[in-house]
Parts: sequence; structure tokens; C-alpha cells
Amino acid sequence: MINLKGKSVLITGGSKGIGRETARMFVESGARVTITGRSAEDLVKTRKELETSSSSILSVVADVSREEDCRRTVDTVIAEMGSIDVLINNAGMSARGLCSESSIELYQTLVGINFLGPVMMSRLCLKEIQRNKGSIVFISTLAALKGIPGLSHYSSSKMPLTAFSESIRGELKKDGVHISIIYVGFTGNDPDKTIYDSQGNRVPLKRSKNNLTQQDVASAVVRAVLGRKEIITLSVLGKLAAFFYRFFPRLSELVLTKQALKSPQYEE
Ligand SMILES: NC(=O)c1ccc[n+]([C@@H]2O[C@H](COP(=O)([O-])OP(=O)(O)OC[C@H]3O[C@@H](n4cnc5c(N)ncnc54)[C@H](OP(=O)(O)O)[C@@H]3O)[C@@H](O)[C@H]2O)c1
Repeated sequence: MINLKGKSVLITGGSKGIGRETARMFVESGARVTITGRSAEDLVKTRKELETSSSSILSVVADVSREEDCRRTVDTVIAEMGSIDVLINNAGMSARGLCSESSIELYQTLVGINFLGPVMMSRLCLKEIQRNKGSIVFISTLAALKGIPGLSHYSSSKMPLTAFSESIRGELKKDGVHISIIYVGFTGNDPDKTIYDSQGNRVPLKRSKNNLTQQDVASAVVRAVLGRKEIITLSVLGKLAAFFYRFFPRLSELVLTKQALKSPQYEE
């Protein structure tokens, strides 16, 4: 177990939702936290909300799908904080829509944010994290354990994180680097959360059934870093889904398809 006091923790997409709650928990643990996001306004709001008299938060306006933004983020954190011990690849966007109705640009956008973003951030932070024998955490989803009808873009953009995390875990073990991936299920969202529709417009997410709170996910992230846990599948329901996807793939497909046709907005 490591002590988080004074550690430099960089959280992409830390201005809202799960990222904001994760930032809050790291701040409470004594870490020095940096948050990123595209909206400067949301970053300022979150910084004001989370800062205490003894801990200030660094925020960087950056789009994780743009390499120059990723590079500027990492350079800024090193200049301001002096190091990076932990990278939480949390920034992500979801989408709804059948493959036949979805634009190719939507696939490119989601792959850019959900997969290439974490790859670029991880590569740019690598030297720092190797030097500090630190952690890289990937926030994935149950929709990356099995392709979900109506979410082909989202599932396909998150699934490669599994391969990437497994590959680099093998490459970096000798350096004492900890790689973690967390599969998250239905989580309570900010009321103003948006997702992309099939044409790439940002629309509100309407969903009422959730099994996890943002705090549940945030504490799993902290637990993963402290315990150097490699894989976490969240909630009993999530573990059950993972079991069914693996051992009863046909039955799972039938159930998921029925559910998707009933409501295209049912899963993350
Ligand atoms: N909520 C769920 O039910 C659920 C379930 C499974 C997995 N997850 C995963 O958990 C993570 C967080 O989800 P959430 O529900 O907390 O989402 P959220 O409330 O929509 O927050 C997303 C965060 O990521 C940032 N972001 C989005 N696109 C970005 C980009 N291109 N560059 C930089 N920052 C970007 C957002 O800020 P800006 O918009 O200002 O950029 C925001 O800070 C995501 O990876 C998601 O896939 C969520």
C-alpha cells in the first residue's frame, strides 16, 4: 500500500461526474490533484468546489483527443507539480444509435476520446510514472466486456483499452509500474450529463436506473491505486453480467438485444 499524501495525481475529465468525485477523494487523501476537461467554466467551478485551505487544485483546459493538448497538459503538470505519480484516464463520452444510422465521424470521435486519448496520455506520462513507480488507471465500462446493441461506437471505443492495458502491464511490470482497469456499470450521473446522438450532436442522457453512485466508482479508483489492483469489475450486478457474457454469450446477446430494442438509452 502507498500513502497518497503529496502524490501528484492527474485526472482527465475531472471537472464533472465520476472524475470530479475521484478528484475529491484524492484531495481528501492529501494528494496534489490536476483535473482536465474541455470546458474552462466547469473546471473553474469544480476547482472552487474542491479546493480547501490546505490543498489547491491545478486545472488544464484540454481535449484528450488532441495530441497537442495532451502534451501541453503533461508539460504543465510537470512544471507546476514537479512530478506525476498517478494518471487516471477517466475522460470519456458515450453515444447512442444504431450502426446503420450513425456517422463514421461519430466512430472517429469516440475512438479519439475513449481510446487514443488514454493511449496518448499514458505514453506522455510514462517516463514520469516509471521514475516514480506509479500507477496508470483506465476507466472502462461493462459495455467493453461485450458489444452492446445500440452502442457499437461506445463499446468499440472502450474495448481496446483492455488490450492496451494488458499489453503495457506486461511491458512495464519490471519497472514497478502499476496498471489498472476498472469496468464500471450504470452510475448516477450529473443532471446535465450529455452524450452524442448518432450524428454526433451532444444530447441529454435520460436514464433512471443506476446501480452505482459516483462515490462508489471514485472509491474503487482510490482502492485500485492504494492496493495496486489490476482489474476491478464494479458491483455485484456487473460481476454477474461479466459471468453471463463469458459463459452464456448467446443468451446474453438475446437479452441485450431485447433490452436495446425496448429502449436505446439503457446502458453505459
Ligand atoms: N456514468 C456512467 O454510467 C458510466 C458507466 C461506465 C463507464 N463510465 C465511464 O466513466 C468515465 C466518466 O464518465 P461520467 O459519467 O463521469 O461522464 P461525464 O459526467 O459526462 O463527465 C465526463 C468528463 O470527461 C470530460 N471530457 C469529455 N470529453 C473530453 C475530451 N475530449 N477531452 C477532455 N475531457 C473530456 C468532461 O468535461 P468536458 O465535457 O468539459 O470536456 C467531464 O469532465 C467515462 O470514461 C465513461 O465512459 C461511466
